[in-house]
Amino acid sequence: MNAPAAAKRRLIVAITGATGAIYGVRLLERLRKLGGVETHLLVSSAGWLNIQHELELDRSAVHALADVVHNVRDVGASIASGSFVTDGMVIAPCSMRTLASVAHGLSDNLITRAADVVLKERRRLVLLVRETPLNLAHLRNMTSVTEMGGVIFPPLPAFYQKPATIDEMVDHTVERVIDLFGVALPVTHAWQGMRGEAD
Ligand SMILES: Cc1cc2nc3c(=O)[nH]c(=O)nc-3n(C[C@H](O)[C@H](O)[C@H](O)COP(=O)(O)O)c2cc1C
Repeated sequence: MNAPAAAKRRLIVAITGATGAIYGVRLLERLRKLGGVETHLLVSSAGWLNIQHELELDRSAVHALADVVHNVRDVGASIASGSFVTDGMVIAPCSMRTLASVAHGLSDNLITRAADVVLKERRRLVLLVRETPLNLAHLRNMTSVTEMGGVIFPPLPAFYQKPATIDEMVDHTVERVIDLFGVALPVTHAWQGMRGEAD
C-alpha cells in the first residue's frame, strides 16, 4: 500500500513549448493561493523559450511558484517512480511533440516519464494540448492518450461566460482543470444556466 500517511495532495505541473505558457503559470498561481497541494514543476527547454517570449518571466520567478522544481533531464527524480504517490499531472500547455511522446510511451525526458508513470498507476493525466489545425498524427496521438485513460483538454475559451479579458478566459480554463482533480475552489465558476434568456 503506497498511499502517503497524511494523504498529502501532490500535483505535477509541466510546461512545454506550445504557445500558452500562461496556462501552466496561472495553474501554479491558483494552486499556491488555494493551498493544500504540493506542486512539482517541470519546464521543457522550448517551454522556457515561450515563457520568456510570451510572459517575460525569468526562471526564478516561475520556480518560486512551485514547491518542488525538477530538471527535465533528471529521470532519477521522485516523480519518475510510481512509488511516489501523486494525484496526477497536468501538462499545460502540451506541445504536439510531448503529446506524441506520451502517446507512444517513450519516456524520453522527465516530463514524459512522469506522464507515463501517472498513466501506468491509473492516476489522472490532463493534457492542455495546443496546435491548430491538427494533422492525423496529432489526432491519433490524442486518441491513444484517451484510450490509456488520459484527459485531452484543449484550452479553448468558453464564450458563453462572456470573458472581458484574456485573464478571465485563462482563469476559466484553469478552474476547469483544477475541478478535474477535485480541489475545492472558493467561488463557483459553474455555468448557472441562461436564466430565461432562451425562448
Ligand atoms: C513561439 C513558439 C510557439 C510554438 N507553438 C507551438 C504550439 O502551439 N503547439 C506545438 O505543438 N508546438 C509549438 N511550438 C513548437 C514546439 O516548441 C517544439 O515542437 C518543441 O520541440 C516542443 O518541445 P517540448 O515538447 O519538449 O516542449 C512552438 C514553438 C515556438 C518557438
